[in-house]
Amino acid sequence: MVSHPVGVVRRLCVGVLATVLLAACAGGVQEDGPAGTVPAGGTGEPSSDVPLIGPSSTEGFMPSWIRGLQIVRDGSEDAECAWHTSYPVVPGAEALNTALRDTVDTWMSTARQGTPQAVCPGGVGIEHVEIGFDFLVASTDVVGVRLTMINGNNAGNGISTDTFWYDGRTQRQSRAVSLLDSAATTTFSSRVRALLSGREGFDAEVAAQSLDPSHLPDSVRDVAFDTEGALHVRFASGIVAAVAAGDVEVTVPRTEATRVLSDFGRRVQEQAVHPTRRLTLPTPAPTSEPATSTPSVSPPGAAADAVDCRQVKCVALTFDDGPGPYTTQLLATLARYKARATFFVVGQNVVASPAIVRAEVAAGHEVGNHSWSHRDLTRLSRKDLTNQLAWDDKAIENATGTRPALIRPPYGAINATVRSTVDRPLILWNVDTLDWKSRNSADVAQAALGAVRPGSVVLMHDIHATTVQAVPTILDALARQRYHFVTISQLRAPTALQPGHVYSSGPTARTR
Ligand code: NI
Repeated sequence: MVSHPVGVVRRLCVGVLATVLLAACAGGVQEDGPAGTVPAGGTGEPSSDVPLIGPSSTEGFMPSWIRGLQIVRDGSEDAECAWHTSYPVVPGAEALNTALRDTVDTWMSTARQGTPQAVCPGGVGIEHVEIGFDFLVASTDVVGVRLTMINGNNAGNGISTDTFWYDGRTQRQSRAVSLLDSAATTTFSSRVRALLSGREGFDAEVAAQSLDPSHLPDSVRDVAFDTEGALHVRFASGIVAAVAAGDVEVTVPRTEATRVLSDFGRRVQEQAVHPTRRLTLPTPAPTSEPATSTPSVSPPGAAADAVDCRQVKCVALTFDDGPGPYTTQLLATLARYKARATFFVVGQNVVASPAIVRAEVAAGHEVGNHSWSHRDLTRLSRKDLTNQLAWDDKAIENATGTRPALIRPPYGAINATVRSTVDRPLILWNVDTLDWKSRNSADVAQAALGAVRPGSVVLMHDIHATTVQAVPTILDALARQRYHFVTISQLRAPTALQPGHVYSSGPTARTR
């Protein structure tokens, strides 16, 4: 595991969840460039009219062309107990999926053990740990994924990364060192030492030991190719330089890199330089995305739009962190009750499942921004914060054609910077079902039903099966109480919501 200290300037361009900071390094959301364009996603067919979100560089990106790609998310929605994990599940790459899942589990378990002062009750969480991912390559028959952990409890060693490489030909998953030719490790090591010498904090003695060929599997964990084919090697703090120097990255130019790569490494390099934007794994088990049309959707009717929540009992059900594997089922349930809801979606998931987000909009639901990769916005620079929102906007816009009008900050975490940076209203909630904690349908339903009043905004997560299973009970009981199920915008209408203002409920109906 590669660990990087917090607070290093270089971190702005090499550390943290890479996608967060890409624009900071690249000067904005990249619309084209070497990475070119990618398809709208979900179809598996490349097209050329949808811009890539995030440069396909060493910092990572989200491929939109993997059929059946799922993103597994877990976490709290609690600013006092902010934790979140995510990793991709690539159909046909079982060994990769297993390695990613096991690593996330291990990191979380280690983080829990390392923080006995964790304030989160029930042992289900931990205070401020965010584990995320980025794709480094996903082309033809190779996949590369970087996992990044930000551990807010670990001040001197807050960021850890590791990279995982899947070879579709052998159906095996391996670590970074597998990209190197085992017969060329001495050449690789001396070249890296030469590139490092003269760097601030470079420690020749420490580097010589870390870069001894026998130690490379532990020292070289984070590698990636840029679109020119150069090999970027990122060393954790203390591996090749003084700890105070932080993490260190060297770039081995393409020609030199090619000489020290394994056959697999060369294939990865080739896909980074000439990505096909198709992934063809030998044992595909695609669970293709549901069709754009949702089951039995009643088109948004004028009657529902005309609801005046100052006059009748309204409740706004909100579902965060999706779309996910249970979202289509949830849409069918909502349609059965002619209920509107609001989905605060995460950009990476939107890229993986754009058709589900289209279906949400088509069914008359509202879609809001919940950031690109579920980062705590209060811990980001203004620029990174802007990117987190802009990238989710872009993903939603690509999927639905519309920029979302509402923002729900992950964990409900808001500070002065967030308030002054956003150009849209911030939507919180006043009924927390704690569904992420209980994972029990009866408890979720009870938490909602026991607390809902006219004007309530209810927080739930459609990434949990138990939550989706609780929704029929909730809808049934509230419908009997003559509640109208509305979107956030309907709940507040006709009052216009103000940018930067925080809303956690609607008006209380004047009627019974
Ligand atoms: Ni969330």
